Amino acid sequence: MCGVVGVVGSRPCVETIFEGLKRLEYRGYDSAGIATMSAGKIHTAKSDGKLVRLEGHLKELPASSSIGMGHTRWATHGAPTTQNAHPHVTGDLALIHNGIIENYRELKAELLKDGYSFKSETDSEVVLHLLSRELKTTPKMKDALLKVITRLEGAYGLGILWAGEPEALYLVKQGSPVVIGVGENENYFASDALALLPLTKSVIFLNDGEVGRLTKSGVELWDFSGKQLKRAPSVLNWTAASAEKQGYRHYMLKEIHEQPAVIANTIARLVDSASGKIDTKEMGIDDLDLTRVKSIVYVACGTAYYSAMIAKYSVEQMVGVPVSVELASEFRYRDPYLDKDTLVIAVTQSGETADTLACIKHAASRGCQTFAVCNVRFSSIPRSSTATLYMEAGPEVGVASTKAFTSMVLCHYLFGLAIGQKKDRISKESYQQALESLRQLPSAVDRAVNAAGLIEDVAAKYYEATNFIFIGRGPSFMVALEGALKLKEISYIHAEGYAGGELKHGPIALIDKHMPVVAVAPLDGHYEKMISNVEEVRAREGVCIGVGDLQDDKFKALCQDYIPCPQVKDAALQTILSVIPLQFLSYYVAVKRGTDVDQPRNLAKSVTVE
Ligand code: F6R
Repeated sequence: MCGVVGVVGSRPCVETIFEGLKRLEYRGYDSAGIATMSAGKIHTAKSDGKLVRLEGHLKELPASSSIGMGHTRWATHGAPTTQNAHPHVTGDLALIHNGIIENYRELKAELLKDGYSFKSETDSEVVLHLLSRELKTTPKMKDALLKVITRLEGAYGLGILWAGEPEALYLVKQGSPVVIGVGENENYFASDALALLPLTKSVIFLNDGEVGRLTKSGVELWDFSGKQLKRAPSVLNWTAASAEKQGYRHYMLKEIHEQPAVIANTIARLVDSASGKIDTKEMGIDDLDLTRVKSIVYVACGTAYYSAMIAKYSVEQMVGVPVSVELASEFRYRDPYLDKDTLVIAVTQSGETADTLACIKHAASRGCQTFAVCNVRFSSIPRSSTATLYMEAGPEVGVASTKAFTSMVLCHYLFGLAIGQKKDRISKESYQQALESLRQLPSAVDRAVNAAGLIEDVAAKYYEATNFIFIGRGPSFMVALEGALKLKEISYIHAEGYAGGELKHGPIALIDKHMPVVAVAPLDGHYEKMISNVEEVRAREGVCIGVGDLQDDKFKALCQDYIPCPQVKDAALQTILSVIPLQFLSYYVAVKRGTDVDQPRNLAKSVTVE
């Protein structure tokens, strides 16, 4: 969850570290700090709050330091204060930590008994003192580290600066992401490759159970048994510009607007426009043994989970095996029935979500094939899966997921279509119809994105509401859930999504003239039932905001406000279009309420701890 950046080279490094931390701001944090080494001495600058506050302290660091590391902290153990901010320092040793040390209480008690005193309330500081104590009897850093990590339980990405080797940075990865950037006469590390994009494209992703040592001219790696490892760098295919705001007021707005291009590029990349053939190799499908797939279980969290719920509607039909969808945080702890014929699919934008990763590892240990639908190349979940379908949506920086959601829905659809065709389960006609919907999709997404102005007016009317209900049926039920999630996470308005058919079973009691109800009712097989639900809402003085077809006068007449939305024939693909007005609605409501759209309170982009 925290952001981590380290640099070792021959030029002054403070600005490079600070700029790297800025690129990780999107992950969410509440304090920050930097430590550098100069003339064999460690110097630190730390602050609570955002990086602008840390900036005021940077002059406390020697301008000429060419080795150092920085950290943005998302508080777990101890309040977001300067004292608790990383790096933690004792004597000639500084440490940054991303993750949670689960057995820190026992370790802290042991260290206190041994005479060590603590400056912070963090779990991380125990690692610092353990290492400092170990270095007294094990004078080589690598050996001391290998001993200390045997004492740690939990997740940790560590960065270490030590005056004993003033030209080196040490790293450890167990559970939390660590990536090394290989530069020219300069090397780097970070918790997220985005931080390194303007510096290098050449990266080495550490695996769990690995230790690294960086100097300006070299990278050394060992596993936890001390065995030296050799690893060639991979090359990132994202550009630095793709992670910039490019003139948009917020990343979220930029990413909503990127959706037409993302959808068009994904279809162009995966479906041959002339033959209509799907590239199953590029999709990772060729790496699976399909004869073994008797059932599919999707595991995911949050928005990714809702995308997978849409897959249940499309993929189950097309592939012809039972599909279930589970929250990764539940699945991993419930000892699910799994056999080697179950394909477990992890859906994840970041590829680093701790719960989802744990599910994949658990499934693999049961002999299942595992598949990742993921946006970030080389991230932990693809590296732990049998095969991966990369979404290639480009960096998603806004904490609220937008383009990743629509891109996931499209990827699931193509996955189902490709396997359905391979298994000869889809008639020629249905396949042609699907291709037609896919052909229409990019321009329809473009039209949906261009309707923003009207939605801004709707947002201006309702932004002071304290509650919202979203309803939909069929795949649009998931759009309702996703719309409610978007609104609550960035505007802090309480919002719930319901299946239209569930209203009568409880939630309808909430409806009165103060309750805006957003009804998603495209012209699909559920339309008439949705109209009945809207009638029921209106009969109880509920305020209805409709999202439906441009020409649908019947639905429009029932609603106080109406957001027309382009339509395609396929109900699963329609969700890609229907969700866009809801992304805009939550965005404009949040802007009106003055909340921090890209970094909503308490949230982090990549949830690498439980
Ligand atoms: C909501 C949101 C989260 C993520 C969830 C899973 O807008 O972004 O709910 O969808 O934390 O993240 P990934 O997809 O990275 O596994």
